[in-house]
Amino acid sequence: MPEAVTHVGSGKVRELYELDDDRLLLVASDRISTFDVVLPTEIPDKGRVLTGLSAFWFARTRELVPNHLLALRDDGRSTECRRLEMLPLECVVRGYLTGSGWKDYRATGSVCGHVLPPGLEDSQKLPEPIFTPSTKAQEGHDENIDRERAAELIGQERFDEVERISIELYRFASEYAAARGILIADTKFELGLDAEGNIMLGDEAFTPDSSRFWPADEYEAGRAQPSFDKQFVRDYCESLGWNKTPPGPELPEGVVSGTRARYVEAFERLTGIAFDAYVADPDVVLS
Ligand SMILES: Nc1ncnc2c1ncn2[C@@H]1O[C@H](COP(=O)(O)OP(=O)(O)OP(=O)(O)O)[C@@H](O)[C@H]1O
Ligand SMILES: [Mg+2]
Repeated sequence: MPEAVTHVGSGKVRELYELDDDRLLLVASDRISTFDVVLPTEIPDKGRVLTGLSAFWFARTRELVPNHLLALRDDGRSTECRRLEMLPLECVVRGYLTGSGWKDYRATGSVCGHVLPPGLEDSQKLPEPIFTPSTKAQEGHDENIDRERAAELIGQERFDEVERISIELYRFASEYAAARGILIADTKFELGLDAEGNIMLGDEAFTPDSSRFWPADEYEAGRAQPSFDKQFVRDYCESLGWNKTPPGPELPEGVVSGTRARYVEAFERLTGIAFDAYVADPDVVLS
């Protein structure tokens, strides 16, 4: 008999269903968004890559912070998870200066209130990873905020805890990834509270959608880096002179297959597991 599940929400990439009062089913589609606009073309298997990679990290970081993962389903894109009350901020950690961090640094010499040494170059490694939260925009783009504003949103004590957890997660994953030839330039995750008020990692973790992954052997500060993430699609969209408002452009076959290959390569390099083996049995990422 089919389960009675209620659809409770749609994100840009995921569909959310309610399993019961405490549990959600998070289904990752193959949709891709750039500059916060969902494109009309899908990337085959992208949702499986994100789901498998997140579960891989959830299984390896639960001693640092508990997480929402309860079970993976056979389709490789559905996660049964604890329903959390998400904190109203995106937890961003940067180990390298790029994207909006690089932009803010060039304009002000600091990023989200972290004053950085002068003379840093594009893509340069930071002396220490920094926690640079942003708001969770309901519509439009997330906005970088400083520590004071973030502490106002969730309280100083909670902020300190969230910062500590975020930096620990980043240190763990970036060391793990670096040993496998991938630099995690920056990453974003979402923390939430369970019914007892415990802080937990939710959503997705250390995926090519939520992180910038750079091949370590090609890394060189002072320029933009090749990457295993959405940058390939961003570059294509920008090359069209698209104004970054809906509707987004269709992607040609070469960009679709190139993006799929980059996502799958990130999965395989990080997990050491063949993507086909994951598709055959998603639970392989959990052990
Ligand atoms: N365990 C959880 N409990 C409750 N909500 C969760 C949990 N894990 C993830 N979410 C929420 O599910 C949604 C995931 O969908 P998706 O990643 O497609 O969203 P998004 O495009 O990143 O953001 P938005 O929801 O703003 O469109 C996010 O809103 C996220 O906060
Ligand atoms: Mg998301």
